[in-house]
Amino acid sequence: MRLAAPTGGACLLGAARRRHNAGVIPESFIQELLARVDIVDVVERFVPLKKGGANYQACCPFHSEKTPSFTVSPSKQFYHCFGCGAHGSALGFLMQYSGLPFVDAVEELAHSIGMQVPKVTERNLAERAKKAPLTELMARAAKFYRERLKTSPKAVDYLKGRGLTGEIAARFGLGYAPDDWQGLQNVFPDYNDAALVECGLVIVNDQGRRYDRFRDRVMFPILDQRGNVIGFGGRVLGEGEPKYLNSPETPLFEKGRELYGLTQARQSIRDADTVIVVEGYMDVVALAQYGVGNAVATLGTATTPNHVHKLLRQASKVVFCFDGDAAGRKAAWRALEASLEQLADDKAVGFLFLPVEHDPDSFVRQEGGDAFRRLVAQPTTLTEFLLRSLKADMDLSTAEGRAHQVTKAVAEAAALTQAEVEGQCGLKPLSRGRPAPPPRSRAIAISKARTLLRAVLGRPERAARLPLDLIGRETAEEQALYAIAEAMDHGELSAPAGSVGLIEFFRGSPHEAVLSRESAALLDEVDESVEEAVFNDTLEKLRLEAIASEVDALSAKARAGGLAAEERERYRQLLASKAAAGAQRSD
Ligand code: UTP
Ligand code: MN
Repeated sequence: MRLAAPTGGACLLGAARRRHNAGVIPESFIQELLARVDIVDVVERFVPLKKGGANYQACCPFHSEKTPSFTVSPSKQFYHCFGCGAHGSALGFLMQYSGLPFVDAVEELAHSIGMQVPKVTERNLAERAKKAPLTELMARAAKFYRERLKTSPKAVDYLKGRGLTGEIAARFGLGYAPDDWQGLQNVFPDYNDAALVECGLVIVNDQGRRYDRFRDRVMFPILDQRGNVIGFGGRVLGEGEPKYLNSPETPLFEKGRELYGLTQARQSIRDADTVIVVEGYMDVVALAQYGVGNAVATLGTATTPNHVHKLLRQASKVVFCFDGDAAGRKAAWRALEASLEQLADDKAVGFLFLPVEHDPDSFVRQEGGDAFRRLVAQPTTLTEFLLRSLKADMDLSTAEGRAHQVTKAVAEAAALTQAEVEGQCGLKPLSRGRPAPPPRSRAIAISKARTLLRAVLGRPERAARLPLDLIGRETAEEQALYAIAEAMDHGELSAPAGSVGLIEFFRGSPHEAVLSRESAALLDEVDESVEEAVFNDTLEKLRLEAIASEVDALSAKARAGGLAAEERERYRQLLASKAAAGAQRSD
């Protein structure tokens, strides 16, 4: 089921575009590889496929099912599961199925068809070389903190007091940063190394004095998917401000994308086919201590669509567990919004609200792991939570327009009519009682952006014909269109291998999810000439709309007080092009 995306989400703008292939392998090689490899061969090495019409089918290897909803398209060169939303190219399949990191998957795939992965360019080498020592510094720091924990009775006592055993502390690599302004000097003789500042371990003050960022804190290392330490969270022992100090954003660490505990949780997530998302470091660690190993935490940021996407790839069920207080409800609402954009199936996302006085850590310590697991097994469904929130009028006074879109989404999710939902939530009087909010000034509606995006996914070269000044930057579809056109315009992506080429290029970026979702629509074989006509038609509508709204604005101005000479000229031109377009249409 496809839900309308409720908000574009400002968080998507300006985010880094992609990370997997951060300059390691030339983009042109990836595109050529995708153009030469056949996804059917690749998938068939692992999963037996049956031909059905134009596509191949199988039971999905990424979630358990009895009737096949996993589809491989030989013409589009991607796979898509209608059950769990798994989607991607031959490269994506290798990564997802075999768990290979990006570069290894590229090498494997290239090898399988006798292609040689080219030598990395000098710039790429420089980028790689820049990151490698930072990773190494972080690893050394983590080791230092771990060793200091062993010799710090007060830190050990603190963790014991919170119910943790040495085994769990080791599993999460917990450490202790000593109460020392330059403690790290012990492991970094060149304490003035700029790289220590770059990776956020050392701070330089205005006087040029250098000192350790983390002092007298329990250290929680944050790992990336490969198990490299990319950041730290440090907690004061007892009371103190700030309670948690975190690594800043660095070349290694981007907060909106990472999830604490994912590396340690991976196996449990697979076993339970469920991932639990909590708010805090301690929640993750305490849950693991009590046998609930499939929990991860967002890092002091709101849940992003990227988080949800990442998680729904690992398990078919995501349960958000937030504190029972107002902040927790707000966090849950943000998670709901992030999920709506990602949902392939509304049953995949649930919410768990603990009693107000609890967070997962205190709950599991008081009630035990089984009690927590029972709650996780029966979460509030997304639809229930949505309806309940709408009823409570939560967050709506500030987001009326959004509420309207959300009612549509929930109607779809619950298979109700929009009127039913509005009635049930008491929204109707609200929308009737007040004048409708003015239409948001953007030149393109979701459906048009979506239409354009699908056409561009079908044939990426169409991106060159997009009138970017007429396309908004609000919805995920609009942002993706923009990013595609920009990447092609700037020459970063010169000859994408169809929709999979685009998807690979944007892997790991905020656009990945929407591109995957929209390209699934390409599975219905479309007539190329029809698609071309629809694309042109939509562009034409956009132009006409832009003309019409400018005409409206100018005539309002004319009524109000008159137009300047060049405005009058512009007005005449616009009316002429409007008339010409009208004449053409009625031909
Ligand atoms: P909480 O304040 O709920 O803390 O913050 P907690 O997880 O219950 O921690 P304990 O049990 O008191 O040790 C939740 C998360 O918000 C971020 C951290 O990621 C924390 O785990 N946070 C909180 C910060 O980054 N800085 C802070 O000062 C507080
Ligand atoms: Mn807590």
